[in-house]
Amino acid sequence: MTAYSVLLFLHSWGRWFVLGTGIMAVYRGYAGSSNRLPFTKADNAMGASFVGFMLLQLIIGLGLYFGLSPYGLKAMKVAGAMKDPTIRFFGMEHIAVMVVAVVIAQIGRTLSKKRLSDVQKHKTAFIYYGIALLLVLLMIPWGIWNPARPLFRF
Ligand code: HEM
Repeated sequence: MTAYSVLLFLHSWGRWFVLGTGIMAVYRGYAGSSNRLPFTKADNAMGASFVGFMLLQLIIGLGLYFGLSPYGLKAMKVAGAMKDPTIRFFGMEHIAVMVVAVVIAQIGRTLSKKRLSDVQKHKTAFIYYGIALLLVLLMIPWGIWNPARPLFRF
């Protein structure tokens, strides 16, 4: 077991925590704003978990990109790297869009907390978490429009 395999394992499984908490946070934002529900501690906790797992993925991703992954910065420095779709995906597209998604989720949480009414809090969470979740779904390597990676890495 190497440091690389440990980070890759954590990053691979981290996706399911991001997706699980993201779907719940978006759903709570939608249901809360359309049914005019109070913004509860559970709503806040779900948003915090989604943003927290996103940040964790970012930190592990940075370790992979700048340190251990053969598909990160090392691969990008080789001549003609951009012609290889897998290197282009992990070395540029994946990280650029995921960083934007993390920033959008974080901004959404900050703005949602500042809103005065509960409906506005839910609505802001729904919009920002929804956009962040869509970007994450697009950039996970499912193997449909981007490279294939195992769904469950052991
Ligand atoms: C925030 C949401 C993110 C999710 C859900 C996510 C998800 C994934 C998944 C599922 C893989 C494939 C892992 C495997 O092969 O089993 C992967 C690979 C990778 N990710 Fe992310 N990622 C995210 C953010 C980031 C960020 C922000 C960076 C860089 C700063 C990054 C860098 C990488 C790199 C370099 C790889 C390729 C690793 C390798 O195969 O050597 N990821 N990511």
